[in-house]
Amino acid sequence: MSSVLDLARPDILALKAYSHAAWEPSLQRLHANELPWRIAGDPSAAGLNRYPEPQPPPLVEGLAALYGVAPEQVLVGRGSDEAIDLLMRIFCRAGQDKIIVCPPTYSMYAVAARIQGAEVVDVPLLADQGFALDVPAILAKLDANTKLVFVCSPNNPTGNLVPRDTLLDLARQLGTRAILVVDEAYIEFAGVPSMASEIASLPNLVVMRTLSKSHGLAGARCGTLIAQPAIIALARKVIPPYAVSEPTVEVVAPLLRAASISAMQKGVATLLAERARLAEALRKTPGVLRIWPSDANFLLVEFADADDVLRRVRNAGLIIRDVRQPALPRALRLSVGTPEQNDTVLRSLA
Ligand SMILES: Cc1ncc(COP(=O)(O)O)c(C=O)c1O
Repeated sequence: MSSVLDLARPDILALKAYSHAAWEPSLQRLHANELPWRIAGDPSAAGLNRYPEPQPPPLVEGLAALYGVAPEQVLVGRGSDEAIDLLMRIFCRAGQDKIIVCPPTYSMYAVAARIQGAEVVDVPLLADQGFALDVPAILAKLDANTKLVFVCSPNNPTGNLVPRDTLLDLARQLGTRAILVVDEAYIEFAGVPSMASEIASLPNLVVMRTLSKSHGLAGARCGTLIAQPAIIALARKVIPPYAVSEPTVEVVAPLLRAASISAMQKGVATLLAERARLAEALRKTPGVLRIWPSDANFLLVEFADADDVLRRVRNAGLIIRDVRQPALPRALRLSVGTPEQNDTVLRSLA
C-alpha cells in the first residue's frame, strides 16, 4: 500500500460530490428553492430562510486558528460524533473492514462502526498499568482490512492521557497500514499540546477536537476533524452539504475570539481546582475504594456498592454515569460540577 488514501473506500474516492447551490452572495438567490423572505421573529443575521454556506469560512478559519492548523486541514461538523461517523463511512466497507478500539473507552466508536457494518476489534487498555495503551497488541491485531485505530486521550471514562511519544510511535508503526484517530475531546483539561501539529509529518494521523467540553458549547454541536487536506477533501464529499446550521455559525464564530478563549482557560483552571477538591473529599468518603487520576473534567471512582451510590445521588437530584463493565466492575463516572453540585454529591454519600 503506497498511500493512506488507498485505505479509503474506492467508491468514496470515486464519488462525485453533491453539487450544492453555488455560494454567490453578490447575486439574489433564486437557485435553492428557499422562501424569498425572512419570517417574522427570525433572530439571525443572515436570514434563516437561506441555506448556510457549506463548511462556513468564519467557523473553519476560526477553528483552524484556534487549533493552530491550516483551514485545508479542518472539517467542521456536528460535534466530534459526526467526525467519528464520517471516518467510518469514508474508510470502512460494510461487511469487510474493521476498526480497532481500546476499551474501556468512548462507546461511540464501536456504535458508529456497527452502524456502518464494520467489525470492531477490541484491544483492551492495560488496567494494571494505569489503563496504558497496548501498542504491541494493537499492531498484532492489525490486518489488511483494519482501517482505523481509535485512541481517546485523555480517555473517557478512565481519565488518563496517552503519552505523546506512545501516540507518535503508534502512528509511525501503523504507517500506511491504518489511520490513527486521536480523540482529544478533553485535552484542554490536560494542559498538554494537541497532536494536530504532527499531522503534516504523519499523513495517517487524524485528530478530533470539540467545543463541547472545556468551551462549554455542547449545545451548539460543533466538532472539528483535523487531518491532511486529502482526507478532509473526502470528508467534505461525505458530510451533508448544509450540516452546520446558520445559528451555530452566528453564535459560535464570535466565541472563538481571544477573549472567549482566555475565559475558557480560566474556567478550566477553576474546574481543575474543583476536581482536586472533589477527589480529596471523596478519598475520605466511606465506600470509596479508589479514585483514578484524571486528566479530564470527570473522575472515575470505584465504590464498594455502586448501586447504592447511584440511588443516593439520584435521591439528591443528581445523575452520574454508570460505566460498569468487565474491566471496571464497580466504577462510576462523575462529571465535576459546580462547587454546590459537588457538595451535594459528597453529602449524599456521607
Ligand atoms: C471521548 C469523547 N469523544 C467525543 C465525544 C462527543 O463529543 P461531541 O459533543 O463533540 O460530539 C464525547 C462526548 O462525551 C467524548 O467523551
